[in-house]
Amino acid sequence: MASAVRVGLVGLGTIGTGVVRLFQEHGADIDRRLGFPLVLAAIADIDLESERGVALAGYTLHRDYKALIDDPGIDIVVELVGGTGVAAQIVRSALCAGKAVATANKALLAHKGDEIWPLAREHGTEIAFEASVCGTIPVLRALREGLAADRIQALHGIVNGTCNYILSEMEEQGEPYASALKRAQDLGYAEVDPRFDVEGTDSAHKLAILLGLAFGLRAGPGDFPVEGIERIAISDIDAAQRLGFRIKLLASARRGAEGVLACVRPCLVPRTGALAAVGGALNALVVDGAFSGRTSYSGAGAGSLPTASAVVADLMELARSRRLGAAGRVAPLGTPELAEGGLCAAAAEEGEYYVRIEASPGSGADAAAELIERLAARGVRVETLARAGRDVVVTTAPVKRAAIAAALDRRSAAGVQILRIERGL
Ligand code: HSE
Repeated sequence: MASAVRVGLVGLGTIGTGVVRLFQEHGADIDRRLGFPLVLAAIADIDLESERGVALAGYTLHRDYKALIDDPGIDIVVELVGGTGVAAQIVRSALCAGKAVATANKALLAHKGDEIWPLAREHGTEIAFEASVCGTIPVLRALREGLAADRIQALHGIVNGTCNYILSEMEEQGEPYASALKRAQDLGYAEVDPRFDVEGTDSAHKLAILLGLAFGLRAGPGDFPVEGIERIAISDIDAAQRLGFRIKLLASARRGAEGVLACVRPCLVPRTGALAAVGGALNALVVDGAFSGRTSYSGAGAGSLPTASAVVADLMELARSRRLGAAGRVAPLGTPELAEGGLCAAAAEEGEYYVRIEASPGSGADAAAELIERLAARGVRVETLARAGRDVVVTTAPVKRAAIAAALDRRSAAGVQILRIERGL
């Protein structure tokens, strides 16, 4: 049997603990599948005292990650610290030492991928990051390898488990936003700072990675519009339901004549469609390819054990490369040199929209008439008109989003809700 590949884990948080547990429970199967041992040899974390429900006897323990990097016996480093500070140092130093790296760190890859991908190549090693997008679902592998021969036309994903959990609980249990968020934190879905989840930042990090894989685009999270779920009211959820839709936070990108249009926004999807059925902390990705047609992927998008499963699958892939001498067989984003530019301006956003405006008590009829008039003045045709509590809700015929925004520019943003309707999902 070939000699063992040895792994050093940095970061014993929610996912790190899941990785330890997975090695402990499935280690023998993993070795059998690989044909050689994959050994979790060492763990580094500044806190080695807290009780995490896994036995740490048998591992070499360090408080300083540098001890793992300096250990010539460690072949692969798993970075599960998160963030873009120390995590960047860990990844850089591991790659520069010629070690392979596995990470779930979407923020790091979205912000510093341009520096990290070439570093892996220069040092003849690899970085794997399946767990960074959609948790346990192998969507990156699907885009990088399974769909590598196709031209991706569009993708739409529910890529943040926390937001999906909150929206689902608000609709199904009538639970207030704040307590649903608190539970998502207790269940280990949310980021350390949950504003990253609810403001759409985490979804934007993931979309930046998906844009690289699906369209060969280098785009940072600041290059496309990002909106979170904090302004979704129970009245929006109820009104959407009455119109036959459910509200989901979508990370979307579609190829058009002028380039790829990307955004993260809460959208209305048909209640009978595939994405509406994706509840709780589940994630899903729908990909439209020129030849492949539509393929869909769904599963657990967050949480200790599902995410650990994707991390360890990456470790197996990296270990195979080490033993078979095939590092870099497929470039991290599927293509070594990425296309430049290619994102189109947000002003190109176009579709059917749900518009809700606040109306003061007793002024609903006047507010509705004024809204329709203002929209009509900008060439926006109203298809349906309804009430949401005392507020007024309309749906529009296909139109540029900018036309609706212009029609409502005199209103305070807090009193206006504009949500895209995605009928095809
Ligand atoms: N906070 C993230 C989410 C974790 O809720 O999806 C997984 O990336």
